[in-house]
Amino acid sequence: MAKIKNNFNDLGPKEWLPFQKSFTLFETMESLIQSNLKFFIKPSLSPAPNVLSFGQDDFQSMFQKTAQNLNVNSTKTSFDFLALDLTNPIHLQAGIDWAIENGKNLNYRKFMWILVPTDLMSKNNSPIAWELSNQFAGFLTRKDEKIICHPDGHTWTSLYFRKDEHSLFQNYPSIESTHQASTQSTHHLQNWFILKPKPRSKDQILHPAKYPEELVRMYLEEFTKKGDTVFDPMSGTGTTQVEALNLGRHAFGIELSELFHGIANKRCAEISTQNHYSIFLGDSRNILNFEIPELDYIITSPPYWDMLNMKGAEVQANRKSKGLQTNYSDNKNDLGNLDDYTKFLDVLTEIYQNTTQKLKSGGHLTIVVKNIKKKGEHFPLAFDLTNRLISFLEFKHVAFWCQDDLQIAPYGYKHTFVSNTFHHYCITFQKT
Ligand SMILES: C[S@@+](CC[C@H](N)C(=O)[O-])C[C@H]1O[C@@H](n2cnc3c(N)ncnc32)[C@H](O)[C@@H]1O
Repeated sequence: MAKIKNNFNDLGPKEWLPFQKSFTLFETMESLIQSNLKFFIKPSLSPAPNVLSFGQDDFQSMFQKTAQNLNVNSTKTSFDFLALDLTNPIHLQAGIDWAIENGKNLNYRKFMWILVPTDLMSKNNSPIAWELSNQFAGFLTRKDEKIICHPDGHTWTSLYFRKDEHSLFQNYPSIESTHQASTQSTHHLQNWFILKPKPRSKDQILHPAKYPEELVRMYLEEFTKKGDTVFDPMSGTGTTQVEALNLGRHAFGIELSELFHGIANKRCAEISTQNHYSIFLGDSRNILNFEIPELDYIITSPPYWDMLNMKGAEVQANRKSKGLQTNYSDNKNDLGNLDDYTKFLDVLTEIYQNTTQKLKSGGHLTIVVKNIKKKGEHFPLAFDLTNRLISFLEFKHVAFWCQDDLQIAPYGYKHTFVSNTFHHYCITFQKT
């Protein structure tokens, strides 16, 4: 078989793979710029590729220096890579104008990188990075994102767009006004964390997507006190309830699958506690029909759309070979079986709307969720859900749960950029 040529960049497999991890631990601005430039251009081409950047002076000069070292041009009128640094919000409007003007002149299948602090808020009090992502998706083609994790705790979001046959060149992005999030700093929560969960028990392995006890504990300690009542409308193996009971909270929940409902109840029964717990078997769309008391806090994670039904996904094939369940259930009420994205969002929103009717005023809801790539398209589930929820809840905080114990797959190798999504959004809202 003929060896496929790498027409995308000059990297070998060892350098290609680490860049594909969807989160990066920040070292220096110089190394961040260098890793992006080296990934998105092919300096060995003749004539040399053209690149352009916009942003703070030091970003610009570092970018130009790195480009020069790679023997790349930075003066022409059509581009092989564009980099927009919005780490200083005063450049926001000028930066957007620059991106629109030059984005039209990107060469075919070439990328634009936008770097934005995650805690920069838009007028409607949700992260600007997410709004920019949505707005630029109506202009170029939204391809991917990476989270830049700083040692001092804050994060930047790297957004990646490509000019290709799907680019619309409509909806020129415009963002009205901004303010730095004050909410992010009022919590003791970290803004990003890497967890190494304990090995799972035999029962817990049956579930294709449980979240770690350590994560739930962090949030319960932040948002609840002893004697409070905690709820999870999609309880799975009962991780929420187990940690809540362990910390002296009352624990309630709903779970649709009989199998997981059984596992969750068994886990709770093994805990010696005086506190109340009850996990109902059923559809959380009907939460208002269940006997659930007033809630102090809700933490939950939905099916990540119908991704578990996607045949051929590597994890799925691996689970199948071990005789493990690859999806939650075949039940038509299982949200993981809804293949229409808008319908899935509608139903999920309805569940959270009904669930938060039981939440006391001032109480918080934390949702653990991922953005999704399906058949080459990027579906920003975290952003889309937030957009809907801020019509009845207040956005309070986002943290990234980064997974560092997964094997990286060489998606798009020699061809294009497709990251391995190793970060989850933990988004907290407050009922006012
Ligand atoms: C991501 S998992 C939750 C995992 C859980 N946090 C844990 O740690 O085990 C989502 C769960 O939602 C359940 N589910 C899907 N549709 C549901 C519905 N309509 N009502 C209640 N539960 C549902 C699935 O059976 C699955 O167990």
